[in-house]
Amino acid sequence: MKKQRVVVIGVGYIGMVHIGELRKLPNVELVGVVDKNQDLAKSIAERYGVVHYPDSESVLRDPAVDVIHNCTPNREHYPLNKAALLAGKEVLTEKPLALTAKESEELVRLAKEQKTRCAINFCYRYYPVVQEAKVRVAKGELGVIYNVLGHYLQDWLLYDTDYSWRLEPDLAGSSNILADLGSHWCDLAEFITGLKITEIFADFRTTLPFRKKPKDGTVLTFSKAETAGFEEVPISLEDYGSLLLRFENGARGTFTTSELAAGRKCDIEIEVYGSNASLAWRHERSSELWLGHRDKANELFFESPLLQNEKTRRFARLPSGHPMGYHDAIYNLFADFYSYLESKDNQNSTEFAFPDFEAGHREMLILEAALASKEKGTWVAVGS
Ligand SMILES: NC(=O)c1ccc[n+]([C@@H]2O[C@H](COP(=O)([O-])OP(=O)(O)OC[C@H]3O[C@@H](n4cnc5c(N)ncnc54)[C@H](O)[C@@H]3O)[C@@H](O)[C@H]2O)c1
Repeated sequence: MKKQRVVVIGVGYIGMVHIGELRKLPNVELVGVVDKNQDLAKSIAERYGVVHYPDSESVLRDPAVDVIHNCTPNREHYPLNKAALLAGKEVLTEKPLALTAKESEELVRLAKEQKTRCAINFCYRYYPVVQEAKVRVAKGELGVIYNVLGHYLQDWLLYDTDYSWRLEPDLAGSSNILADLGSHWCDLAEFITGLKITEIFADFRTTLPFRKKPKDGTVLTFSKAETAGFEEVPISLEDYGSLLLRFENGARGTFTTSELAAGRKCDIEIEVYGSNASLAWRHERSSELWLGHRDKANELFFESPLLQNEKTRRFARLPSGHPMGYHDAIYNLFADFYSYLESKDNQNSTEFAFPDFEAGHREMLILEAALASKEKGTWVAVGS
């Protein structure tokens, strides 16, 4: 079996998660790492016995590298994904795919021209019972979808002493939380229901318009700044957002997100209500799928390699009763992507349903509609 030779670019919070899961895949060899922070990259390279590349350009020039994982902050996604595609590399990128829909559209086109499918890490799709939810909706178990409701709440930016590059438009783009957490939730909503979001009415707020930025450099995500020196800086990007949603079949939805929700660490909830039944999934109890009925008792379905729909069993990789988690969801996504690359090399036409650059572009269109709605104070149609 040919192993895909992979370099992870950006080894902060999510880059390290990528490294952990990549090393479990039999058809992958982690060959190197890059980070703007050279000391960090060097120490990670030493720890894993891989090459420390000085920059992404040297990775793209290296014919020994097949795939890059782009785990840098948002601003770097478009230029690096584009350069990698033009250099003939395969790409698995972090979200958002780009800073604008124009950029993400170009990346979709470039991937098509290179006759490849690149992946984006909308990892919440890959929990076993989320896959199960999608199949159950597609089989018509819920009937006609009426409503899709939910939230994505965190608390790591609650205090004005909490700081992240995600609050800086130069690095994050025109949105903080909608691009970051909203893109995951909207992807889940479209993935589970199979319905496109067509119109949006958005309300955002920058609850804390000033924050204390550490003077001595950046803070990795979810870490605390270890510094005595701060400077107070104005914040323009939102830390709260609410969306009213209309779906292509007329279904209505609501979504709320906040990074100032004390006690909520990574609380994603999605509920889908249909004419026959409903379902709900909550990340903090991610092995369970709640199935709601009007005329019989509700059910709590637990992920299972035996009881899930035949199509989704392979995602439940532990014996029944052993809960899987975030790392496993990311592993499932990576496994599909690398199986696709393997089948591509073997000219095999098997279809793999991992989120690709098209999915990343959808989220950019949704984000731009939300930003336009907030500006105009009206409903805005999602572009195509
Ligand atoms: N899919 C998910 O569940 C998930 C979770 C967290 C973050 N993310 C995404 O991953 C990206 C990174 O987020 P994070 O939380 O890991 O941030 P982070 O700040 O913890 O890490 C980013 C790393 O990239 C490095 N970096 C910055 N510019 C670089 C460049 N030009 N070249 C090489 N390295 C560079 C930084 O030095 C840092 O080590 C973001 O776009 C975020 O949206 C996705």
